[in-house]
Amino acid sequence: MQILVVGSGAREHALVRALVADPEVETVVAAPGNAGIATIACCRPVDVMDGRAVADLAEALETDLVIVGPEAPLVAGVAGAVRDRGIACFGPSPQAAALEGSKAFAKTIMAAAGVPTALARVCTTVEEAAEALDQFGAPHVVKDDGLAAGKGVVVTSDRAQALEHAERCLARPDGRIVVEEYLDGPEVSLFCLSDGRTVVPMAPAQDFKRVGEQDAGPNTGGMGAYSPLPWAPAGLVDEIVSRVAQPTVDEMARRGVPFSGVLYCGLALTSRGLRVIEFNVRFGDPEIQSVLARLRTPLGTLLRAVATRTLDQQPPLRWHATAAVTVVVAAEGYPGTPRSGDPVDGLDAAGEVPGAWVLHAGTRRSEDGQVVSSGGRVLSVVGTGPDLHEARRTAYRAVDLIDLRGSHHRRDIAARAAAGEITV
Ligand code: AMP
Ligand code: GLY
Repeated sequence: MQILVVGSGAREHALVRALVADPEVETVVAAPGNAGIATIACCRPVDVMDGRAVADLAEALETDLVIVGPEAPLVAGVAGAVRDRGIACFGPSPQAAALEGSKAFAKTIMAAAGVPTALARVCTTVEEAAEALDQFGAPHVVKDDGLAAGKGVVVTSDRAQALEHAERCLARPDGRIVVEEYLDGPEVSLFCLSDGRTVVPMAPAQDFKRVGEQDAGPNTGGMGAYSPLPWAPAGLVDEIVSRVAQPTVDEMARRGVPFSGVLYCGLALTSRGLRVIEFNVRFGDPEIQSVLARLRTPLGTLLRAVATRTLDQQPPLRWHATAAVTVVVAAEGYPGTPRSGDPVDGLDAAGEVPGAWVLHAGTRRSEDGQVVSSGGRVLSVVGTGPDLHEARRTAYRAVDLIDLRGSHHRRDIAARAAAGEITV
């Protein structure tokens, strides 16, 4: 099988790493890829938002399967453009990708499918927003309706700050926001593969969204993740499939917009039961880095089954009995304006720590061959071990060998879970 992976982050590096280990996979090409991916696969330039360009490249490479990593090209219709050429593609159509592309659409589907989620109001004026804020009370949750790279959500007890975010989002052309009730309780990310009918859940993971330790500071795309969740109640995954993922997939099929790809269910386990915080239509980054570290089932074969509607014929997923912790190393300034162009040193030493590996996100190779930073989240460092405690030790041993001027990372990824401090 020849595979083309679209994207250039650590998620795509993790996907490529798992794909090249699948004996059914002959070649993997990444477009555009990054400096880390280039060490294990061929990288080709492409405008990931241009469906025709991606389809042309897939055709030229005689690709059997295209995997679209990030949300923006999915929402823009790249998966559909590839399938129109008769090439199998992992990723939803633009209509189905609206589950992530519009929070209001996701709420409509959840309501129709009876999926538990936060009470919410869609607002298009500041007056409506102010009214909704007072209806739900503090802490306030205000979400930009459209894609915002993990930065469109403000959760705050400061009403003025909530209203300010609402105003900023609404000031844009066709600005629309969702104001919703605050959900307490630990968060879970569960990636549910679906071919439009069958749903196959992966192992659950937990993400660390805030930039600072103890969840201080603004939201980011994700600063770290771990899997498995030793504190998760028994039967959690089955409950998420039966109450969330399967009803959503069935509702989408009923409406004639079958969902094929991965439905990322972001949930809060509240005192009143599980609630959906958000849907995404692609693998979570950095959660998938931890999940794939544990997956034994060959990935190419699995994702081809999703793309060819044969998921019901797949054997159950197999997992390593290990734990995996991913720590994101971010550039100075992230999640604001990140500094770029600085040399990244210590990559080889970090990669040699037993049980650890380094996945690249915002990196490129300079003219003299040096890896330099080129984005907000620069690296994902994965550590594995028999339990979370050991996996953490391994991950941080590797992180500590990396040298990038001004970079920052959280030291507390998976710390509370490893210490048994999370309760539901
Ligand atoms: P989203 O982009 O919808 O995933 O939101 C980003 C983050 O904001 C989530 O991972 C949560 O940590 C937080 N968040 C979103 N919605 C809520 C909510 N209703 N209650 C509490 N926290 C929320
Ligand atoms: N880590 C959260 C996300 O990928 O949206």
